[in-house]
Amino acid sequence: MKNNASWPNGEACIEVNELWKIFGHNAEQLLHSEMRSATKADILEKTGHVIAARDISFKVNQGELFVIMGLSGSGKSTLIRCILRLIEPTRGKILINGNDVCSYDESQLIDLRRHTTSMVFQHFGLFPHRSVIDNVAYGLKVRGVAKEERYAQAQKVIARVGLQGWENYPPSALSGGMQQRVGLARALATDPQILLMDEPFSGLDPLIRRQMQDELLDLQAEVQKTILFVTHDLHEALKLGNRIAIMRDGEIIQIGTPEEVITTPSDSYVREFVMDASPAKVLTAASIMEQPNILLYEWQGPKAALATLRTSNMDDAFVVTRTGKLLGLVTMERLVEVIRGKGNSIREVLEPDLPTCTADTLVEDLFPLAVSTRYPIPVLDERGKFTGEVHTSSILVSMIQEKEVETDARVP
Ligand SMILES: Nc1ncnc2c1ncn2[C@@H]1O[C@H](COP(=O)(O)OP(=O)(O)OP(=O)(O)O)[C@@H](O)[C@H]1O
Ligand SMILES: [Mg+2]
Repeated sequence: MKNNASWPNGEACIEVNELWKIFGHNAEQLLHSEMRSATKADILEKTGHVIAARDISFKVNQGELFVIMGLSGSGKSTLIRCILRLIEPTRGKILINGNDVCSYDESQLIDLRRHTTSMVFQHFGLFPHRSVIDNVAYGLKVRGVAKEERYAQAQKVIARVGLQGWENYPPSALSGGMQQRVGLARALATDPQILLMDEPFSGLDPLIRRQMQDELLDLQAEVQKTILFVTHDLHEALKLGNRIAIMRDGEIIQIGTPEEVITTPSDSYVREFVMDASPAKVLTAASIMEQPNILLYEWQGPKAALATLRTSNMDDAFVVTRTGKLLGLVTMERLVEVIRGKGNSIREVLEPDLPTCTADTLVEDLFPLAVSTRYPIPVLDERGKFTGEVHTSSILVSMIQEKEVETDARVP
């Protein structure tokens, strides 16, 4: 199993080691028997036990948004609940900030759930008879925070999720998307270090769901929580996850960044999962950009520029300023023209209207740019500095690879 532990080279916040959860009256015994390596279906048939989590190990780093993805019944909820011991693991170790959660007594567990973590559920889990603000302030109330202070804090997070004005309404007066904002606000109100989110957006219609995903990303950029996010939707996983763990029948069968999961699926199950996810929707310019053979500089005269092109056998090249900003592109043809006309600056012959992109432009969005130009597409940073170029051929190769993934996946 591939375990990319490099993100973001930070400290582990959640660490799960060799975790098992078996539902059934003789779970311990089963673990000691040969049956433990049988398939989930066999174990169920022969012993009546359900393997919900099988020998699971992974680490989530501080500030990481880690996604657990798998089909219904693959064990995602069991896993996320075991971390807070809302479900008791059958075996294994769970460390939060280096502390062994499995050794916690009841009061330590309550402390963990009140102060360090918050959960967001698929079906919101709001109190129907409390107002929005009382739902949001609930976690602070059980912590014993004074009314004024908890309302002030609740008000702040309600505004943060865009629900000002709804403080005194009951949840039933709100749409599904708005109710889940309340769920999110409630989780954020206690300013937890860790957010555990179990299919929080699965009950929402697609448009609202995408909005909520965008807002979660905005929020995460601001607050940098450690987030464990469960979903069965690949696109959601690819959009949100710094890394993704894919579960099947209680096991994690691959852990990787979205690009790793898409480009090197660990087996046919993962491949089937990613089959309908086009790499062009995930890969970015950064992954296919190259460094140019040569660059020209604004202070070079046309003759020097022409000589540089000739000696490197190029027909054209990008021109940058002293600070590395892209000025444009010149061709050999136009340089010859300006020299004949006794011009003395390559600024006079820059090609107009060059399309540009940034490192995070999706390959999908590069297609139309590539069609509109005869030259490579320059990749600029946020200050307009030239950082590399993308060739049409690389875009096409990524399209062909996409086709191969599809064709391969269809071979029985
Ligand atoms: N209390 C229980 N007793 C027996 N089996 C259980 C219990 N809870 C869960 N299971 C079984 O454990 C397995 C994992 O269930 P879990 O709810 O964790 O899956 P999931 O991936 O969250 O699914 P979903 O996407 O439907 O929420 C399933 O086979 C389920 O039937
Ligand atoms: Mg579940």
